[in-house]
Amino acid sequence: MTPDRFYIEESSKHDGKQVTVRGWVYNKRSSGKIKFLIMRDGTGFMQCVLFKGECPEEAFADFDKLTQESAVEVTGVLRKEPRSPGGYELGVKALRIVSIAEAYPISPKEHGVEFLMENRHLWVRSTRQWAALRVRSEIMKCIEEFFYARGFIRFDAPVLTPSSCEGTSTLFSTPYFDEKAYLTQSGQLYGEAGAMAFGKIYVFGPTFRAEKSKTRKHLTEFWMVEPEVAYADLEDTMQLGDAFMEYIVQTVLERKASELKLLERDFSKLQSIRGTFPRISYDEALKVLEKNGVPLPWGGDFGAPHETALGKEFGGPVWVHHMPSGIKAFYFKQSDSVGGEGVAGTGKYALGCDLIAPDGYGEIIGGGQREERVDTLKRRIAEHGLKENDYFWYLDLRRFGSVPHAGFGLGVERTVAWLTGVEHVRETVPFPRMPGVLRP
Ligand code: 4AD
Ligand code: MG
Repeated sequence: MTPDRFYIEESSKHDGKQVTVRGWVYNKRSSGKIKFLIMRDGTGFMQCVLFKGECPEEAFADFDKLTQESAVEVTGVLRKEPRSPGGYELGVKALRIVSIAEAYPISPKEHGVEFLMENRHLWVRSTRQWAALRVRSEIMKCIEEFFYARGFIRFDAPVLTPSSCEGTSTLFSTPYFDEKAYLTQSGQLYGEAGAMAFGKIYVFGPTFRAEKSKTRKHLTEFWMVEPEVAYADLEDTMQLGDAFMEYIVQTVLERKASELKLLERDFSKLQSIRGTFPRISYDEALKVLEKNGVPLPWGGDFGAPHETALGKEFGGPVWVHHMPSGIKAFYFKQSDSVGGEGVAGTGKYALGCDLIAPDGYGEIIGGGQREERVDTLKRRIAEHGLKENDYFWYLDLRRFGSVPHAGFGLGVERTVAWLTGVEHVRETVPFPRMPGVLRP
């Protein structure tokens, strides 16, 4: 690849110059002596115009052979044209066919979701999918930038694990020679080992949940980024989450504005994501739910209607903290009162914090403070019906220099969905994995 290779997204640098677009036919139309080719080259979309007399006869003949998604190289002069998708159009001088595509299954008309999912390998070329996945890529970059800028070490956790992190009901198992392994549900437990070794780390990778839930926010394979910090508590975690979300949202707004426009995302709500999100305890959340006509008995976990009601009430993301211990994993530090953090009492509350996104996108961050005392942790492991032996190394972290520590996990796909305004998480990852979906 030559360093001066032209890409559509860099058109403004080449105004008035001759360039070659190497790409694919997105659409075409003719009107008399003018022929229009909408090209995509992966970085953007551009209108290319063929005028009779301005380009060779054979280019005109070749134009007629072009089918949707045929590969073609088009050379011409770039000029500003506000009506063209990227703000520039190409006055074509030459056209070279690279390959003629067979009848393309995805036409500009409407298709059913099932059909599009079967053709996901082609669907990713369509404008909305393309835009959403470019936003995803930017979010991935923002995640790395944010943590590197703050001195975090990236600490990679294994995908094949011997035991559960988030409860045994959603484990995918696989033979591992003569024993059984599980696909990781979360890298957190390993991240805690990393926090004790490096002070502040983040785990980042794919995670798996054998969840049969067919909802707009559940995947069986999703990406999670999990910071973990030594000498940190619940409050520190929410502060880190606030700064993290602000960085992601504001940076994506700045760098991926045209993709968000293409997705018709309303910017105003995202622009106001700055500083701290409102925080309410679980107990307070129950009052809000009651008031909004979706009451939940104490001890119940939020479902979609509850999350939607919280989003409506606050008009943006909201932290819910101090949840009932009964609905939280074994590793949470507990408290007998809201605000009574660190007190070992009845353990009614878990020192957890979930960030609930508005408009039904659900919980995008789940985190909290970890139990740092070895005896309490052993009791919790037993209470959850887990085998202490499986967690020998995790307990060691409490035996050798234990300190208060905390962290969270942010689900990438839900974050992409919320930021882009895409309805379903299946459109926020190149090849989604959901119950019943394993192909392509
Ligand atoms: O709340 P979760 O289960 O928390 C954990 O796994 C912790 N160990 C994280 C930590 O503290 N280090 O999951 C964290 C986030 C959720 O808030 C959600 O965004 C996402 O992961 N998530 C899912 N995303 C898509 N599909 C699913 N089935 C998801 N389950 C969780
Ligand atoms: Mg959670």
